[in-house]
Amino acid sequence: MARTEPRTAQNAMKCPVRPDDVDLFSPGAQEHWYEAYPILHEQSPAHRIPGEGSIPGTDGFILTKYEDIVRVVLDPERFPPGLTTPPKPNPDGSMPQMNAMIASIQTLRPNEELWRAHKSELTDPWVGAGANRHHDMIEAAANALIDTWIDDGKVDFVGRFARLLPQIVMANVLGFPHTDIPRMEKWGEAQVLAFVHGAGHRNMLTPEQAGDQMRALAGFGEYVAGWVVEKRERPKDDMISWLTQVTYSALDRKLTDVEINGIVYAMMIGGLETTQYAIAEQAQLFCEDPDLYRTVRNDRSQLRGFIEEGLRLRSPTQGLSTRTTIQDEEFQGVKAPAGSILHLRWAAANRDPQEWECPHELQLDRKAVTRHLTFSRGSRGCPGSGISRQEQLIAWTCIMDRIESLEYGADNTFEHQPGIMLGLYKLNLNFIKAV
Ligand code: HEM
Repeated sequence: MARTEPRTAQNAMKCPVRPDDVDLFSPGAQEHWYEAYPILHEQSPAHRIPGEGSIPGTDGFILTKYEDIVRVVLDPERFPPGLTTPPKPNPDGSMPQMNAMIASIQTLRPNEELWRAHKSELTDPWVGAGANRHHDMIEAAANALIDTWIDDGKVDFVGRFARLLPQIVMANVLGFPHTDIPRMEKWGEAQVLAFVHGAGHRNMLTPEQAGDQMRALAGFGEYVAGWVVEKRERPKDDMISWLTQVTYSALDRKLTDVEINGIVYAMMIGGLETTQYAIAEQAQLFCEDPDLYRTVRNDRSQLRGFIEEGLRLRSPTQGLSTRTTIQDEEFQGVKAPAGSILHLRWAAANRDPQEWECPHELQLDRKAVTRHLTFSRGSRGCPGSGISRQEQLIAWTCIMDRIESLEYGADNTFEHQPGIMLGLYKLNLNFIKAV
């Protein structure tokens, strides 16, 4: 059986053997996540993190069982997200960028019903179910990137494909010029700083890091605000233009500039690096098993199954601490009192042996393969899964049309970024061009 656990870099952190050794969040932990998951499943499926709850005296809990996570995400009234802090204006009265997003959450989707309406009316047409509209644009973007290295026989796959494709796609969807992509990348990195360099399962930034983040985001709010004004006056065929015109029927009104700004902020946090990581992990799964690449290349009807298995086995978002308990709860016999923060470990649930037959195997014909939790589930699940899946499908279709075989290239260290994302820094590939 080909290997499906990620290759990882050597580091100072020891491989976990017992539940007490498991640490998913300290520096270096990202190289041992997949060694920790079977230990947690067998011995500590609801793993307590002392003192890491929502208020002093409460704890965090890492949930790793599929059934527990599904129960939590499908019951948002009982397990509400912790995102309840009201936005604070800047000293000059303007809205900080992050708070534009929170403000737009509070006005456009303050409850479950509006959360659903927001998704179906405002984001689905562009990045959810309606993402098919971008097919030709994504295909052209993928092929243009491949053109730049197809004759070289080798490629820095992350830097010259996996990272760039989602950036170009989101710039096109939102209606930003390509010349601004380097700025988008810088702002995107600043937005997710806490998910990469924040401490512990709550991704806490130090005051210094928070200051760095504010500085790196300087100009982003004004940049988006400028485009919102421009597109309100001269709408084009892009998501921001459309958001300036649409009537949100759930509230029977058009959106304000700040609300649109908040939606754009959310699209950029969610839409850039996640899909990059998915495509980079899928490339590694192919390198691990040359027969797999041949099989899928020769029978493209298998591609969707491959992509879903890739998402299941190598979840780009490994876990998120976005739900709380408001009453005493119990998971797998472990008591989680009111005030606990639940860290939902999607990546572990996706390999839960109670849910998946041969959980560590990549099976192209796995039944109900899309039931993995990589995009979460329910009304608060990822609104961008449609466009992300489109990008992955088209990326691999274009690659398979033009590349006969691929393998690991030289100098791969398999070093991953810290945090909660499975983010490989660099991936060198060698390949044979199709004739
Ligand atoms: C492989 C790629 C992706 C993965 C693995 C992923 C995963 C997730 C997960 C696990 C959540 C949390 C859901 C919950 O707490 O229940 C989420 C939320 C979110 N995702 Fe994604 N996502 C991906 C791509 C995208 C893309 C392409 C976009 C935008 C175009 C996007 C936008 C968002 C937003 C805005 C949220 C926050 C939920 C909301 O505010 O409605 N994601 N995503």
